[in-house]
Amino acid sequence: MRLVFFVAMLFVSLFVPVIGAELDAASIALNCLTCHNDTGKTSAIPPLNKLSALQMQQTLLDFKYDKKPATLMRRLAKGYSDAELAALAEYLSRR
Ligand code: HEC
Repeated sequence: MRLVFFVAMLFVSLFVPVIGAELDAASIALNCLTCHNDTGKTSAIPPLNKLSALQMQQTLLDFKYDKKPATLMRRLAKGYSDAELAALAEYLSRR
């Protein structure tokens, strides 16, 4: 019985961080969407519904590590860890 409990707790603990990351991505994404609306009507700020998760993650890392020229995004991307940027890219690409 104790073993069942242990295995169940192990299982739960594996998923709690995943749920946490999901909530973080959703709340961080609200910041992104204040500038990036996906209507395509704003000319200067690109919509975020055109890139795959992998493309978006790479773009965000390129901004963060100064490999892609940008006015704002280099500063913004530096505010997040690589893991947060990956979670964000994943979240934003499957809205
Ligand atoms: C203050 C407005 C603003 C906010 C907030 C913002 N962005 Fe941006 N984003 C821009 C602008 C402007 C560009 C064009 C590149 C540049 O000049 O910085 C851009 C470009 C991008 C691109 C490249 C898109 C492409 O097709 O080339 C991605 C990806 C991106 N932003 C993701 C994000 C994410 C994720 C967040 C939230 C963490 C975010 N942005 C928050 C203004 C913003």
